[in-house]
Amino acid sequence: MKKEMFQPIFFAIFMKGFLITICLVASISLIISLTPHFSNNYARSSAVAVTNNNIEKYIIKEEEDEETNISHILFGIGGSAKTWHNRSRYSDLWWRPKVTRGFVWLDEEPHQNEPWPETSPPYRVSQDTSEFKYNCWFGNRTAVRIARIVKESFELGLTNVRWYVMGDDDTVFFTENLVAVLGKYDYNQMYYIGGNSESVEQNVVCSYSMAFGGGGIAISYPLAAVLVKILDGCINRYHYMYGSDQKIGGCMAEIGVPLTHELGFHQMDIKGSPRGILAAHPVAPLVSLHHLGKLHPLFPSMNHRDSVKKLIEAYEKDPSRIVQQTLCYDLKRNWSLSVSWGYSVQLYPWLMNARELGFPVQTFNTWLDSKEPFTFDTRPNYVEPCKRPIEYFLDQVVRLQNGATLTSYSTIIGDDFNNRCENQKYKPALAIHMVNVTAPILSPLVWRQLDVDDDNGIRFHIHIPKFI
Ligand SMILES: *[C@@H]1O[C@H](CO)[C@@H](O)[C@H](O)[C@H]1NC(C)=O
Ligand SMILES: *[C@@H]1O[C@H](CO)[C@@H](O)[C@H](O)[C@H]1NC(C)=O
Ligand SMILES: *[C@@H]1O[C@H](CO)[C@@H](O)[C@H](O)[C@H]1NC(C)=O
Ligand SMILES: *[C@@H]1O[C@H](CO)[C@@H](O)[C@H](O)[C@H]1NC(C)=O
Ligand SMILES: *[C@@H]1O[C@H](CO)[C@@H](O)[C@H](O)[C@H]1NC(C)=O
Repeated sequence: MKKEMFQPIFFAIFMKGFLITICLVASISLIISLTPHFSNNYARSSAVAVTNNNIEKYIIKEEEDEETNISHILFGIGGSAKTWHNRSRYSDLWWRPKVTRGFVWLDEEPHQNEPWPETSPPYRVSQDTSEFKYNCWFGNRTAVRIARIVKESFELGLTNVRWYVMGDDDTVFFTENLVAVLGKYDYNQMYYIGGNSESVEQNVVCSYSMAFGGGGIAISYPLAAVLVKILDGCINRYHYMYGSDQKIGGCMAEIGVPLTHELGFHQMDIKGSPRGILAAHPVAPLVSLHHLGKLHPLFPSMNHRDSVKKLIEAYEKDPSRIVQQTLCYDLKRNWSLSVSWGYSVQLYPWLMNARELGFPVQTFNTWLDSKEPFTFDTRPNYVEPCKRPIEYFLDQVVRLQNGATLTSYSTIIGDDFNNRCENQKYKPALAIHMVNVTAPILSPLVWRQLDVDDDNGIRFHIHIPKFI
């Protein structure tokens, strides 16, 4: 495919877009290529460094200091002895013995005659917290124990820890992306990083200014050092608060360190199917998913665990690109396509603008099961078949010889919902049962590049073929 064959039809500068998309549309299948644009820009930015003192200093500092890697993170997972065997099916998906560092913190010693699973993080038994105040009538004082995990982790005094990352026993971390995100920040400064709840009601009850614990809370070493000194006092002062994450949020307010929002931390306080969110993820690396056992499976045709494994299979082939959204238009047919790499493709047999396609389809309710509101834009999940996109879900992902990936997405066999649409314009799209996407590996450097660089690069191009 030569570039000249394609006529650019849309060009815009986005804050954080950086992909060129080329669509080649065939009659019974779709093949899409994602071509990188940022490699050039990266080269350009090193050239800038020679002439610009500030940037040069920045780069020299980076060279002196080892990049943050997985060994610099100490995980603290809140667990309990009786439920661990069941909950370990989540940590097994992301924990890598001898690579990831950290502990599951239990309420008591696990049963002696059941060996501790080798695939699980090693465990520690939390200190007794019965002396602490806890007065939330609808809560559980386990929250006190869980809040203290960061302190007990810190007090182990392990070396070379730059970040303490807390999560629940049903949190799945995407550790490569967690490293990429934390690597953007100076671990010698005080940082409190995470995300809010998706449901407004939860933020109203808890707070907009705290990191929700299930999505993961990342605390830099210098901040942890201050936090552990006052944490026990905060726990007593905020005795009326429900959750461990609220108590930590209270402490952060006292220290005066605001929350740094990172859009890849997902508390997943929703009811229903998360597929709308994953099909239109913001341009940020996917860091965590929580509550997966409480939501519908990620892939409609699979069980919970297998569907998370499927997503991880794609993530492992190209961590930075997982669930990154790319839009594509076929002006000959007036079709719009939205690709969420490694997860799904949506085909709309009509034209839709980028702004709308960037909003998740509301395939879910709020945590308390109402229709709205959410902390992000959504668009309706129509019940009329003609208003729904045709959806394709990840089938397989393979590495190509040139180092790129080929991902295939298929319609779900037996799901004939879209076929109920009688509209003539819709019919040709129904003949497409598979979409193939080839994409080069997305370097984790792009996530840093976006912050370091203010002038170049951040472009999103869409090209479509002149002739089909
Ligand atoms: C991580 O960085 C440290 C230096 O702080 C280095 O010694 C170690 O080999 C690195 N580990 C990995 C897994 O890259
Ligand atoms: C594990 O937990 C899930 C849901 O939380 C439940 O459906 C399942 O029965 C549990 N399995 C065991 C062995 O307890
Ligand atoms: C609090 O949570 C623990 C562990 O999850 C559970 O064993 C206990 O029954 C709960 N207590 C109350 C009062 O709900
Ligand atoms: C595509 O849309 C344009 C303008 O909206 C219209 O003029 C054209 O006829 C449409 N083409 C097809 C194949 O529907
Ligand atoms: C899509 O890729 C699969 C392999 O993953 C291959 O079997 C299939 O033929 C491809 N389809 C097209 C149209 O290229």
